[in-house]
Amino acid sequence: MSHLSRRSFLILSTSAAVAGLAACTSNAAAPSSPVRVAPNSPLVAAAERDRRKAGARTTSVRLDATVGEVDLGGVQVTTWTYGGELPGKEVRIQRGDVLRAHLTNNLPQPTTIHWHGLALRNDMDGVPGLTQPEVPAGANFTYEFTVPDAGTHWFHSHVGVQLDRGLYAPIIVEDPADGADYDTELVVVLDDWLDGTGRIPDTVLADLIKNGMNMGGMDHGGMPGMDHGGMPQSTLLGGDAGDVIYPHILANGRIASAPRSVTAKPGQRIRLRLVNAAADTAFRVGVPGVPMRVTHTDGFPVQPREADTVLLGMGERVDAVITVPDDTVPVLALAEGRDSYAQVIIRSGRESNPAASDSAAKQLEQLPVLAINDLKATEEVTLADRAPDVSHTLVLDGPGAKYDWTINGKPYNPDDGLPIRDGQRVRVRFENKSSMFHPMHIHGHTFQILGRNGRGPRKDTAIVLPGEALEVDFDANNPGQWLTHCHNAYHGESSMMTVLSYVQ
Ligand code: C2O
Ligand code: CU
Repeated sequence: MSHLSRRSFLILSTSAAVAGLAACTSNAAAPSSPVRVAPNSPLVAAAERDRRKAGARTTSVRLDATVGEVDLGGVQVTTWTYGGELPGKEVRIQRGDVLRAHLTNNLPQPTTIHWHGLALRNDMDGVPGLTQPEVPAGANFTYEFTVPDAGTHWFHSHVGVQLDRGLYAPIIVEDPADGADYDTELVVVLDDWLDGTGRIPDTVLADLIKNGMNMGGMDHGGMPGMDHGGMPQSTLLGGDAGDVIYPHILANGRIASAPRSVTAKPGQRIRLRLVNAAADTAFRVGVPGVPMRVTHTDGFPVQPREADTVLLGMGERVDAVITVPDDTVPVLALAEGRDSYAQVIIRSGRESNPAASDSAAKQLEQLPVLAINDLKATEEVTLADRAPDVSHTLVLDGPGAKYDWTINGKPYNPDDGLPIRDGQRVRVRFENKSSMFHPMHIHGHTFQILGRNGRGPRKDTAIVLPGEALEVDFDANNPGQWLTHCHNAYHGESSMMTVLSYVQ
């Protein structure tokens, strides 16, 4: 089977003749050598058929990836977005329905869309060179798939460091049972911003590679709070909090001095849907003086817990319900280790004064932070007790001299995966040997964290602190080739990626 590489297979895979060739190739293979379940495998189509329920409706959206000017709140930048909006317009759909998304690529470069958090069919997962070819500049692509699980999710470009431009938007999947414990919703999408401010993400990455360890806060010897050349430091994250300096921190596309606001009535219960869409920044989120009842992690329900603040790594989502007080309050998102924040104002009383949040942000920083990985999933989404059939250890390390980050000491190779089989219980152990935190993300599945006190929350992205290990379990029930990577956009693009590879 080795003479037909994964890459050439993908490039040729649109031709029916080649599908036949691939079938021959796998038949010819020795019975002992496992064959990858390709994105265009009949097994992927069969899994999709199983997901699709009679009577599923189709929601169609147009996503125009485009270059244009956006207003961050008095700061104009030229950037890349979906439809000229930042964040892109929210997609809303009911659990079990079908999403049909027509992407038009009006960018000067190829692109793809990844649907972060959705257990979708593998050939719609949007990973270039693994699940689909890039969509060239000027071309179109239609994503169409069943959306199986409710929750707060998001979608973004999966090419290069395009995520660190404005190519992201929330996708909210509703459950018919939603709404029992809240009256209204507020989606808050957080970001770190530099595109169009004299820098672009591609040159930032090129500089990191050129300067390797000598730049970008790679002075790993010191203690938090010491001078690290202005690079972000955080005790909570175990040291380095980021590799890139950002001039702006955004909530729903706005800087803190020109925030978005919503009007609410005192006593109303709001379900906050928090999404960290940043490339290199974790956020500590809270509402000063207002406890949050955390109800979901990465879309899946947890046994509710009260919290003053929660920490979200890049790619993570948290849902939390608050009760609106008699006064105007901000939802504050402190950029961890960066002495900067963003906010969305909930107006229920007096006019808001955005600057009033400065001292509130300082106070919020002193409050306890709920450890997301220690939450517990609700009974109905807790995996059945079962010993793992297969275990994979992913050792996270870096950066090397060329700002290379590795998994198991190797650079990313889409043809080289960690084998798993349909029906297996899979355990993944992330071991962080580096001195920086990594929010590790597995595509196409929602794992369960093996927490300090047994079975933890269901998640698709989880922070692994420096020097620590994190174990997660999932049931292999979605055949295909699934990227697994650090959701720091610069780490992922610098090779901190691997593939969980279904084989037969
Ligand atoms: Cu949001 Cu491959 O990730
Ligand atoms: Cu990382």
